[in-house]
Amino acid sequence: MIILGGSSCQALASKVAEELGTNAARLEIRRFPDGEKYLRILDDVKGNEVVVIQSVHHTPDELLFEYLLIVDALKDLGANKVHSFIPYFAYARQDERFNTGEALSFKTVAKLMRSVGTDEIFTIDMHQHRVLKSSEVFGIPSHDLSAMPLLAEYAQATGELDHPLVIGPDADAERWAKLAADQLKTDYDVFEKKRLSSEIVDIRPRKSNAKERDVLIVDDIISTGGTIVQAAKILFGQGARKVVVACTHPILAGDALEKIHQTGAAMIVGTDTIPGPISFVSVAPLIAQTVKTM
Ligand code: R5P
Repeated sequence: MIILGGSSCQALASKVAEELGTNAARLEIRRFPDGEKYLRILDDVKGNEVVVIQSVHHTPDELLFEYLLIVDALKDLGANKVHSFIPYFAYARQDERFNTGEALSFKTVAKLMRSVGTDEIFTIDMHQHRVLKSSEVFGIPSHDLSAMPLLAEYAQATGELDHPLVIGPDADAERWAKLAADQLKTDYDVFEKKRLSSEIVDIRPRKSNAKERDVLIVDDIISTGGTIVQAAKILFGQGARKVVVACTHPILAGDALEKIHQTGAAMIVGTDTIPGPISFVSVAPLIAQTVKTM
């Protein structure tokens, strides 16, 4: 099995390869003077299965196009199969037409990925709440893995949490709250969230009470930080002793991190699906483990 990282996942691909006792394949990427991307796969892939790792974040269009070039080239060069890991999968949110005339971006991206010859897709905590069977959209086998057990394990190992209550900031986060709570062998609840704009959310608690509890808030994405800030305020308002925040994809737009720190949260941790200042947990073991089962 050959491991190949796109430009957004070079470090992650090297870690995965290391876990598997190999080296990541080499890729040359540069730009022509007119801005077009030049891409060359420097290792022989003929007759091999290849694992491609490429997150599509911050410049999703560019990274998606690069992904298409990589997979199309691999298949053209004789790769047997391409198993793709898209640790952060952009465009999953536009999975239905909310207003007349909108593009169904998730469907379009899935079609493109399939058309270049992707055989199988793995995502990680994909932001996909309405389409429950992503395989139907992708049209090829697809699997959503979760980094929540790794994040919960990390939070616990820091010693910050004593018999914590796990909170998902909205109903969609229930599956992640459950996974983290199972890992920590503790209880969980979710809040009710109404999004008023891309920056403003209205969050209300349900039945749990965080009084004198350590709390672990878990979510798939921290983007503007609005969701976590509101959730942390509610928890401190209920008398929580400590709040720790964990997310899979730390987009951290603008001053998100600073806003969350200002709530008094003791720790904020994310993964390297989007490498950044809080990417203390690597998803490399999760990917390597999955590759071992192929
Ligand atoms: C929403 O359904 C997601 O699970 C996250 O809660 C959301 O993307 C976070 O966005 P923000 O940080 O901008 O509140």
